[in-house]
Amino acid sequence: MENELKIPNHVGIIMDGNGRWAQERGMVRTMGHKNAIKTLKALCLHMADVGVKYASLYAFSTENFKREKSEVDYLMDLFISSFTKEFKFLIEKNVRVVFSGRREPLPEKVLEAMDKIQEDTKNNKDLVLNICLNYGSHAEMVDTTKKICEMYKEGKIELDDINEEFIQKNLYQDLPPLDFVIRTSGELRLSNFMMYQASYAEFYFPQVYFPDFTTEEFDKAILEFNKRNRRFGGVKK
Ligand code: FPP
Repeated sequence: MENELKIPNHVGIIMDGNGRWAQERGMVRTMGHKNAIKTLKALCLHMADVGVKYASLYAFSTENFKREKSEVDYLMDLFISSFTKEFKFLIEKNVRVVFSGRREPLPEKVLEAMDKIQEDTKNNKDLVLNICLNYGSHAEMVDTTKKICEMYKEGKIELDDINEEFIQKNLYQDLPPLDFVIRTSGELRLSNFMMYQASYAEFYFPQVYFPDFTTEEFDKAILEFNKRNRRFGGVKK
């Protein structure tokens, strides 16, 4: 990739289209999730290489529990194998893994695998990989509001301490705002993904399903990001 390209500091990826990818190949939907892991591994390495500092991945939404039990169970097992085996290479690659979302009602084994990879990568510095698992923006707003109310009730903060920055610091993770949100598969929705953090993000909707979102597709996305004129509410230059 050319040196002069601007690399977004924080990229969000809504990994959509796994089910359709598999169905179009005459496979069961879960094969799409399985193939997504390969794509994701390559993408994580690539993002670290090109200098992305934060990447947030939408792995499982609070609403995804409405899916067939067999698919939910498959995904939970896939999370366990990913965090205990497939993604262990992140430890050596200087990638720090953190999670956003509600722990309840995730199975104990998934929580253990999440805690382990988070602990094993806690001192890594190249890329922060924020995995949104059992995540929803609305749930995050509720949980953050409760957390802040508790601080107020305990006399730890005054009402005037609550401002935009304070709210950001008390979300599931204290991360910089999203610069670029990519949703694969051609769907044009945010689907409850990081709404507070995405307020001034640029959006990109490639047609490819997530298992086909290769590093070349990511580079195309970066070229598109470089065409955008970001004004943050200011005037056009
Ligand atoms: C959306 O595609 C994808 C999901 C709900 C699951 C995403 C999970 C992964 C990519 C694998 C695991 C991730 C990590 C971080 C280990 P869809 O099933 O809604 O596809 P469809 O819209 O074609 O039905």
